Amino acid sequence: MIGSPSVTLTHVTASTGTDFEQQNQAKADFSGIYNATTPHAYLSEMANLGYQIGEQAKPYLTAAADFLRERNHRDESVQMLDLGCSYGVASALVKYGCSLEELLAFFANRAPEAPQACVQSTKRWLGAVPPQRNLDVVGFDSSGPAIAFGEATGLLSEGIACDLEQPGAAQTSEERERVRRSNLLVSTGAVGYVTERTFAPILADLGKSHPGAFGPAAVLTVLRMFDVDPIERCFANAGLRFEPLPGVLLPQRAFATDREKSEILSILREQGVKTTGAESDGVLFAEVWIAAAPRGFEDFRSCMAEVAEQDDIEPLLATHCEVALAGCD
Ligand SMILES: C[S@@+](CC[C@H](N)C(=O)[O-])C[C@H]1O[C@@H](n2cnc3c(N)ncnc32)[C@H](O)[C@@H]1O
Repeated sequence: MIGSPSVTLTHVTASTGTDFEQQNQAKADFSGIYNATTPHAYLSEMANLGYQIGEQAKPYLTAAADFLRERNHRDESVQMLDLGCSYGVASALVKYGCSLEELLAFFANRAPEAPQACVQSTKRWLGAVPPQRNLDVVGFDSSGPAIAFGEATGLLSEGIACDLEQPGAAQTSEERERVRRSNLLVSTGAVGYVTERTFAPILADLGKSHPGAFGPAAVLTVLRMFDVDPIERCFANAGLRFEPLPGVLLPQRAFATDREKSEILSILREQGVKTTGAESDGVLFAEVWIAAAPRGFEDFRSCMAEVAEQDDIEPLLATHCEVALAGCD
């Protein structure tokens, strides 16, 4: 494990009282580690909490990219827009084919912490084997340093460092064109931070200049505590059907503190969500939501359902969570 992470386990403060903001108050605040120059602190803290949503979502994201490539007759590249991409984790997993364990081990044991040396070392590490997938990855994140790292290492073909949750914020025309060229929207662990304020403008542009024969599609993981209705309306306004994959529940991470656990359990119970065998055991769970144009939705859903049936995803939680929960206050 690398140095001590600079995470502050305070809780996120609500500002204007939307549903997402109220629900977010219950979650631990990791903003310090999202904004460091290199991924060390982020990945170290996420390892401590058994954070694994990227690895759990990876089979769905890779199947979605492969599905779009097939449907577009292999003649057009897939451009994946990763919303809340951090340092480019999904690109490392999906494009470069790394496992989360390999990624954590590289940054824990081998990548130097000095920014320039870290970029060079990461480039060499990624370049040791050819990318597993022909995929352009555009990263969108409010963290300028994380986007800069993703671009410098090649994890991201292009980045958009922007916070559309802020009143009056808007993307530049170049940034909007990057969204317009993207035909696969993915997001893991970011809904809640990103709300309808971000989804509305992104979905208005998604795939507009590069729809391919199938049109744009999306795969998101969403913690069960969040109400997706406002986001569903954004997909509907963009002409896309947006639904959860029935019966699919992916472990995200251990609760960071006892307070986070009790507040999130109360939210879930108020919503009538059964938490026995899931969040009650100390782990946050996410649903997988998918979107596509109505004409292709059933085919896309079948593809995603096949992934769910394979059910060969090794949970990484057991050991990590024992450590994390032992440290809870
Ligand atoms: C839990 S991390 C998830 C990172 C990555 N997707 C993963 O699964 O490893 C949440 C990410 O959302 C980003 N984020 C927070 N607020 C945001 C906003 N308003 N707009 C875009 N990204 C945001 C953070 O900077 C952070 O990189």
